Amino acid sequence: MEKRFYLETFGCQMNVVDSERIVSMLGEIGYHQVDAADQADLVLLNTCSVRDKAERKVYGHLGRFKPLKDVRPELIIGVGGCVAEQEGRKMLDEVPYLDLVFGTHNVHRLPELVQQAEEGKRRISLTGFLDRETRLNLFPQRSDLDTVTRFVTVMQGCDNFCTYCIVPHVRGREVSRPSREIIAEVEALVAQGVREVTLLGQNVNSYGNKGKGEVSFAQLVRKVAAVDGLSRLRFTTSHPKDLSDELIACFGDIENLCHQLHLPVQAGSNRILQQMNRGYTREDYLQTVEKLKKVCPDIRLSTDIIVGFPGETEEEFQLTLDLVAEVGYADAFTFLYSKRTGTAAADLEDKTGSRIKQQRFERLLELQQNNSQQIWQSDLGATLQLLVEGESKQGEGQVFGRTDWNRIVNFSGSTELIGQLVEVKITKVFRNSNLGELVN
Ligand code: SAH
Ligand code: SF4
Ligand code: F3S
Repeated sequence: MEKRFYLETFGCQMNVVDSERIVSMLGEIGYHQVDAADQADLVLLNTCSVRDKAERKVYGHLGRFKPLKDVRPELIIGVGGCVAEQEGRKMLDEVPYLDLVFGTHNVHRLPELVQQAEEGKRRISLTGFLDRETRLNLFPQRSDLDTVTRFVTVMQGCDNFCTYCIVPHVRGREVSRPSREIIAEVEALVAQGVREVTLLGQNVNSYGNKGKGEVSFAQLVRKVAAVDGLSRLRFTTSHPKDLSDELIACFGDIENLCHQLHLPVQAGSNRILQQMNRGYTREDYLQTVEKLKKVCPDIRLSTDIIVGFPGETEEEFQLTLDLVAEVGYADAFTFLYSKRTGTAAADLEDKTGSRIKQQRFERLLELQQNNSQQIWQSDLGATLQLLVEGESKQGEGQVFGRTDWNRIVNFSGSTELIGQLVEVKITKVFRNSNLGELVN
């Protein structure tokens, strides 16, 4: 009988890409994916520890699987990803019915662990970082998925050590993949039907600084954009301190580079930025934004912001609000600061009460929601180009695509349009997506 696995993925795109890899590796050892844990022989969580809430969720979810294990002791339960990396064996102590823990540098060994577990060897934890050379051979490769858009990992890890952030501690040192491998992967994807690629890394702008990336990120972008048959190119995430003029110029003259950029600012006050170890000032950031808008006037920006970093005063928070109003982000992901054990900021004194932090968070949210509304509403009636990606969740006869700005638009149309660029007139603007009509 065929074996079945159930997999849930949390966190960022790095985990999404790792999960794609897990699916393909488990396929090779005879497991196929099911969408309910109670039908599975193997249950896996790919976890995120970026904020406390994300981490607690993991234990909550594991609790759901306990009754399954009570009934079927042969069920294999495993945890991978950033919480696994951070907690290691401790997770086995904490969760007596957990069988496997595999960290971020050990994803490739999952099949081996699962086979051992099948043979009764359980309660295994595999964590810790690998050296650069080994990791260069282990970059997530293209797996055969039937999608129009794909992520291509260009670098892994992070050496920035922003003082609030757990990522460098759970993903390890930064390493870049050789550009020829990246180009070859993109070419293979395009041959397989992929039309849009997003180059992926924790800080793609520092691509090439460490490891085997022998060209600058801007040069890499140009090379990838030139791959025959690629309709669109994006990249994420950018760190403002490493966004070079050379890269900014790409937005002005590369035809298929989308006019959209995620540029996390985190805070608007120079003192807080410095405390965060971000490596740029408010003025640097605003200057970068200005340059981007000059080169590419219709560029739409999104950002990440942390509210309530230890010691942030009302005046300092106000500077974040001012910056958000000035830049005019199309989208912003806002987070309440969450203390992560092992990071430098965890030792900072934090006297601001949670009620005040919550109020600030809501003020920022309201401002940003108004900004977003205004920007997206301005597309009403406009005819925009979409890359059609698939059938819409909205129902029968509808397909969806994304605009250059990465906004989802649903419209009535045939599935034969999937993979094509089409013109669509925007007829309705919702909070997170639009509705449109195909224009002939
Ligand atoms: N490498 C990316 C993404 C890192 S994690 C980058 O540098 O932008 C995504 C976002 O989570 C961060 O941009 C930050 O805004 C937020 N984040 C990270 N650590 C956090 C913490 N301890 N508390 C609250 N938000 C955090
Ligand atoms: Fe975290 Fe900073 Fe690295 Fe982003 S750049 S992953 S916020 S340490
Ligand atoms: Fe979370 Fe790990 Fe990504 S902590 S944000 S899944 S790198």
